[in-house]
Amino acid sequence: MLRFRLFEAPFIQSFKPHTFLIRAQMGSYSTTSSSAQNSPKLVFRQLFEKESSTYTYLLADASHPQKPALLIDPVDKTADRDLALVKELGLKLIYAINTHVHADHVTGSGLIKTKFPGVRSIISKASNAKADIFVEPGDKIYFGDIFLEVRATPGHTLGCVTYVTGDGPNQPQPRMAFTGDALLIRGCGRTDFQGGSSDKLYDSVHSQIFKLPKDTLLYPAHDYKGFTVSTVGEEMLYNPRLSKDKETFKNIMQNLNLSYPKMMDVAVPANMVCGLQETKSEAC
Ligand SMILES: [Fe+2]
Repeated sequence: MLRFRLFEAPFIQSFKPHTFLIRAQMGSYSTTSSSAQNSPKLVFRQLFEKESSTYTYLLADASHPQKPALLIDPVDKTADRDLALVKELGLKLIYAINTHVHADHVTGSGLIKTKFPGVRSIISKASNAKADIFVEPGDKIYFGDIFLEVRATPGHTLGCVTYVTGDGPNQPQPRMAFTGDALLIRGCGRTDFQGGSSDKLYDSVHSQIFKLPKDTLLYPAHDYKGFTVSTVGEEMLYNPRLSKDKETFKNIMQNLNLSYPKMMDVAVPANMVCGLQETKSEAC
């Protein structure tokens, strides 16, 4: 049975309970698709914001006539840079997506929407933040013929999700997982605020990320040491926290003694409303 939500119509449909297919507004995507003759071609750029050491990811389907694109974890300070790149590459930005409510930078989603009004913001329903579209585990976010599936990976925050490229012959190989702060390269996000839980984070990573094929490429929301990408196999072996047993992991997380993030009191309230506090509901 089809199920629509007010904010999703007309391009989001559910094909089975709890599974939403989010389709690009433009073009003529069909479930049989032109992929058999014309495989989707992924455009991929990893972008960096140096003050918060945040990675923003630009993905697009270059084989689709309108080259629909999305940005994962855009930052307000680098939104203009990202939008200029979107223009230069001839892409049509349709989504600004967050992996979670960030505490160390203000999201660029709201700002991007004021500059590109056709863009829709996406965040998990579990985050309780404002956005145009709320996703849940199992949802699929299409841009052209390529999609991201949504996996719940709470633990750093309650509403953290990981976006994973689809499984199938017409999807990027190896698969790619955008892990937010759930799993960092040789590390992980802290678990001592925003509904964090080391117990939950351990389960999230082991059940939702480490079960992916070992060659799955891992792209985190941050890196502080200069790493850009890892793989599931590599982190299972060498992540100094998550390669350990659960009790050891919990012990490590309990004894990090981290300082209060300096941007927290600004970033969290702003990110709850898409990055534009002053305009509140209109922003998202
Ligand atoms: Fe975070």
